[in-house]
Amino acid sequence: MQKLKIRGGRRLVGEVRASGAKNAALPILAASLLCPEDLVLSNVPDLADVRTMFRLLEGMGVVIRREGDKVVLNASRITSTKAPYDLVKTMRASILTLCPLTARFGSADVSLPGGCAIGARPVDQHIKGLEALGAEVTIENGYVLARAGRLKGAHIITDMVTVTGTENLLMAAVLADGVTVIENAAREPEVVDLAECLNKMGAKIEGAGTSVITVHGVERLHGAEHSVVPDRIEAGSFLIAGIVTRGDVLVTHCVPAHMDVLLAKLREAGADIVTGPDWVRARMTERPRAVSVRTMPHPGFPTDMQAQFMTLDVLAEGTSSITETIFENRFMHVPELQRLGARISISDHTAVVEGVEKLSGATVMATDLRASASLVIAALAAEGESTVDRIYHLDRGYEHMETKLRALGADIVRVSE
Ligand code: EPZ
Repeated sequence: MQKLKIRGGRRLVGEVRASGAKNAALPILAASLLCPEDLVLSNVPDLADVRTMFRLLEGMGVVIRREGDKVVLNASRITSTKAPYDLVKTMRASILTLCPLTARFGSADVSLPGGCAIGARPVDQHIKGLEALGAEVTIENGYVLARAGRLKGAHIITDMVTVTGTENLLMAAVLADGVTVIENAAREPEVVDLAECLNKMGAKIEGAGTSVITVHGVERLHGAEHSVVPDRIEAGSFLIAGIVTRGDVLVTHCVPAHMDVLLAKLREAGADIVTGPDWVRARMTERPRAVSVRTMPHPGFPTDMQAQFMTLDVLAEGTSSITETIFENRFMHVPELQRLGARISISDHTAVVEGVEKLSGATVMATDLRASASLVIAALAAEGESTVDRIYHLDRGYEHMETKLRALGADIVRVSE
């Protein structure tokens, strides 16, 4: 088991490069199943979840090779349309293979992902949409079994906004016969990035980024080249780390427009935020002001930034409330932040945070990906030494986080038990 040892209280100063977005790379990697020609990707982040997706796709017969900083995937010889439980249980996003497999091969056996720490994470909308497109879907022994001839375009209205649900249904619709309309579609930049990649592969998708996406199905897709969109959540996490340590952090190779609401909240907290075409700089010299947030689907405040933003409110002047509207159990960082000295009370889906002057180092335990990022950020601001345990959670979504933080002046080392 690996852990991070952090000696807090040092200002983070310097430049850090954002990696490609995990939540764009995962659906785009699954999209390689849709065509028999090379999909050449750049800016693919080196993450545990990405490596898991590689293993899953290679198990189906996809040939994956690295050429310099590019990843080349070829699905011309698929030998299996099964996503096995032992891989799916480690990464829920494996469900993103369900629709590409069904669309191209008419068959998919994908293990039900099951819940995870932050919630039940059902996939009923993925199944409902795939059935609307003409597939027969059954659940047997914990697997989703989909069988279909050529899918047929349909008018789909999802019951709620679902990011991977929208992405899965996009990948089903691109090869369907006729027109598909997806209403209540997710508007996240990662959905837009997938749509842009699919259009480069010959798909005909309009409206990605809005809540109504129209897909004109085509007979087949072809190979393409695509660069994965920068990770707005990783970028936002580094900006907050700079702010809570009263530092000066410049994040490069990112897309400021994907972080509008977060940047507005950071400015409200008193941070000096300057943006350029592909960079954001955050400077902070005094204690942040308390700012309340409510997570919403994009373009609202992202649930994936909720835990990290809480560390800012924990150290802010004043009291704030943080309401989590997307997942039913996404406050597991709270008891760990309390071990560092935070004053937080929870009722239903709202955390009320009473800012404190300082935190003091302690041993804390990561419980899920974004919670672990918030604990690292809090430890960087805390006085004294902290240990963050179970950082395999962190490695799922952050590329070499301690290396990037050390380059900003953090006193942080990874140790193995
Ligand atoms: C994606 O998860 C992201 N993961 C999550 O990021 C992110 O937190 C989430 O979207 C919300 O933005 C990837 O993109 C790989 P949803 P996803 O379907 O698609 C309910 C991270 O930290 N729902 O948008 O699984 C669901 O329970 C991860 O990088 C159904 O009820 O989330 C939730 O309450 C964590 N039935 C809400 O909708 C369904 O069929 C939104 O979930 C689908 C979803």
